[in-house]
Amino acid sequence: MRKPVKVGLVGLGGWTRSIVEAVEKSKKLELASCFSRTEEKRERFAQEHECRSVRSYEEMVKDKDIEGVLLITPNYTHAEQTVLAAGHSKNVFVDKPIANTIENGKKVIRACRENKVILSVGHNSRRMAEVREMKSLVARGALGKVLSAEANYSHSGGLSLTSQQWRWDENKCPALPLMQLGIHHIDNLVYLLGSVRRVFSFMGRIYFSAPNKDTTMTLMEFSGGTIGYLGSNYISPQVYYLNLHGTKANLFFNLREGLYIQKSGATRREKIEVREVDTVLEELEEFADCIRENKKPEVGGEKGLESLAIVEAAIRSSKSGKPVDIEEIT
Ligand SMILES: NC(=O)c1ccc[n+]([C@@H]2O[C@H](COP(=O)([O-])OP(=O)(O)OC[C@H]3O[C@@H](n4cnc5c(N)ncnc54)[C@H](OP(=O)(O)O)[C@@H]3O)[C@@H](O)[C@H]2O)c1
Repeated sequence: MRKPVKVGLVGLGGWTRSIVEAVEKSKKLELASCFSRTEEKRERFAQEHECRSVRSYEEMVKDKDIEGVLLITPNYTHAEQTVLAAGHSKNVFVDKPIANTIENGKKVIRACRENKVILSVGHNSRRMAEVREMKSLVARGALGKVLSAEANYSHSGGLSLTSQQWRWDENKCPALPLMQLGIHHIDNLVYLLGSVRRVFSFMGRIYFSAPNKDTTMTLMEFSGGTIGYLGSNYISPQVYYLNLHGTKANLFFNLREGLYIQKSGATRREKIEVREVDTVLEELEEFADCIRENKKPEVGGEKGLESLAIVEAAIRSSKSGKPVDIEEIT
């Protein structure tokens, strides 16, 4: 068995619980140190997870023992933290989105390329067994030509948001539901259907007390001709579905109910059984494999930037009231 990759974990908030559970499950990774700005939090975390607490991020990236950093921090810090890590020859796993702006996303890619370090972006949704099965069915032509796609990812996280949290602030988290939730389906849809050519979007603050958007609805025209819509809000009970409609069959994926196919001429949907995948474990173990075997991650900087460009196009479209070509963004 090869030596596990020693990682430093940055950001010890809500999503870190899933990340650390996967790291501790894996034999390919070893949690060596942790950092967040609040001393008490990082000391407690270090004790609970038997790793070293460091006093600054700089201390972590200068540590010769650390081979990679896991950045589970607010989106608006991703670019600066990645660039600093790459400058110290640390490999980077950064959770989605790659950055808050296209300019910063490009800086991230450049820094990792110039310093020859691995950059993996945490778009884990595409790794769900149902999405993999959808990809395989589309690729095998089981749907025929895919005409339209419909997707929604929403939940009520916004109801408990306070002004102390970064998601509250539009500058720190623009287009909140689309940037945080909808972006998972953007990556899924590009994975399933290819690149997006044009985007049109409405964004509203319909219920929020926060000065940020709570609801978005985005239309996408794919280069292959398929047209799709993606809804996301940060208020309603959880919704997660992804449906494709083709000339030969439709696919319906709903997180609660699973994946179904309705073949042409059939009135009933048939369930497609899949074996569940730990998507976080898979993406983190892939990061370790890339470091040890000098491979490229499935979702590297370019794919991370592609999803961010669609969010950025949606933001611009919602402001101008006009469709936006992706070419204008990148
Ligand atoms: N893949 C997924 O399904 C998924 C799901 C949820 C979230 N995420 C992503 O994960 C990231 C974190 O989200 P979250 O929900 O965990 O956020 P969160 O609960 O607000 O936690 C953020 C953490 O980062 C720390 N932090 C803030 N600024 C920092 C800085 N400058 N340097 C170091 N640490 C800093 C905070 O602690 P201190 O205040 O002590 O510094 C806190 O522990 C986001 O990019 C989000 O998009 C991904």
